[in-house]
Amino acid sequence: MLAQAQSEPASPVSANDHIQIALIGAGGQGQGDTKVALQVPGVKLVAVADCYDGRLQHSKELWGDDIFTTKEYSQILERKDVDAVIVGTPDHWHKQVSIDAMKAGKDVYCEKPMIHLYSDGPEMIEASHANHRILQVGSQRVSSVIYIKAKEVLESGAIGQLNMVTARWDRNSSIGAWNYTVPLDASTETCDWPTFLGTAPKIPFNAEHFFQWRKWKAYGSGVAGDLFVHLFSGTHFITNAHGPTRAMATGGLRFWKDGRDVPDVMLGLFDYPQGFNLSLRVNFVNGGEENEGLLFTGSEGTMEIAGNSLIVSRVPREKDPGLMIGTFTNAMQKEIREQYMEKYPRVHPMGAPQIGYERYVAAEGYSDSYDHFHNFFASVRSRQPVVEDAVFGYRAAGAALLSNLSYDNGTVVHWDPEAMKLEDKFAKKTT
Ligand SMILES: NC(=O)c1ccc[n+]([C@@H]2O[C@H](COP(=O)([O-])OP(=O)(O)OC[C@H]3O[C@@H](n4cnc5c(N)ncnc54)[C@H](O)[C@@H]3O)[C@@H](O)[C@H]2O)c1
Repeated sequence: MLAQAQSEPASPVSANDHIQIALIGAGGQGQGDTKVALQVPGVKLVAVADCYDGRLQHSKELWGDDIFTTKEYSQILERKDVDAVIVGTPDHWHKQVSIDAMKAGKDVYCEKPMIHLYSDGPEMIEASHANHRILQVGSQRVSSVIYIKAKEVLESGAIGQLNMVTARWDRNSSIGAWNYTVPLDASTETCDWPTFLGTAPKIPFNAEHFFQWRKWKAYGSGVAGDLFVHLFSGTHFITNAHGPTRAMATGGLRFWKDGRDVPDVMLGLFDYPQGFNLSLRVNFVNGGEENEGLLFTGSEGTMEIAGNSLIVSRVPREKDPGLMIGTFTNAMQKEIREQYMEKYPRVHPMGAPQIGYERYVAAEGYSDSYDHFHNFFASVRSRQPVVEDAVFGYRAAGAALLSNLSYDNGTVVHWDPEAMKLEDKFAKKTT
């Protein structure tokens, strides 16, 4: 079943059905996203905006000289031949580029985390509604066949009542810890530093800030915004939960002490009103290979997502309470046993075995990013809502950033996941 999903023939698309896209923010993820987006039938790239010349030049190398390139994304939004944009900028630009694009009539695929500041969320939701634009956030796991299967398994009751979700994302490499290579020609000639800074504090040109922006809060959102957000998106999609009501996080900067202002180890604990707890971990010094996974624990079994597979283990609790009588007199043991056998008579086992183990594996080469773009473009055509819309995106990123608030302030943080509101004392600080 999982193998089937991507091999469906694409419905025929006539020339005038083409969706023309532009990329704003052509770095690692923006270029990667665009390569996947262009695999979806009927999608064409017409323009690219970025603040670094080298990436604009490489965009032409990748997609041809006909691609319009610019350092000013407003020039892309003015174009009538652009239907939708991919926003692959650093986090601190997500809101403004997305809102400007929606106001210009473009649909938006905005990379995660949707927000950088809490005030971004309501503004983006409002812009999407007011301009009748599709906004899909880029936590691609929400479109994964593995996550869809996990959602079905949980809904079927196969693991009973969910009480805990434990998820992790560990790494132990310099690139994994965001020390991305700075190109040799990085300078104010090749990089549009004022535009890159945007609303961030004005400081002199710094190539590390430009190319390794995740290491500073002014542009990125720490490990919570970078990686917890994927784990929240997955958890919310699978459980149908809207978010935690209480969050607490701790951690520290343990190894990558290179001037960054965010921790490289973080642990977060979250209470969900549905009656389960979520525990998250990111460790950039894990002494092993990069690995990511989510474990869902229920009263009747567990369900684990690891890479492109889902493992369901069912060990339902015994119906009989059992006896612990060996220390009593023989007579007492006999009497208790007789009463017990009357109350819980032995029955011959019937039907399917109670204990079970199932493994679902996605087809070789399966890409959840492809399905995520496929879903996005299907909505761009049909105008039907996407699953990971601005509300979903705000609930996932809003939940993730509670960890930073808790870590920075050394306190528990409360959040209303339905109204998407922080408790008052933090609401004032973070807008
Ligand atoms: N979904 C995923 O799995 C995934 C993976 C990696 C990154 N991301 C997200 O993608 C986004 C980009 O990350 P990245 O690793 O590609 O960063 P990057 O630094 O490689 O690329 C960002 C690019 O944006 C450009 N830029 C900055 N401000 C701009 C502006 N105002 N107008 C136009 N271009 C601008 C920069 O010049 C840079 O080339 C981040 O939000 C990140 O969280 C998502």
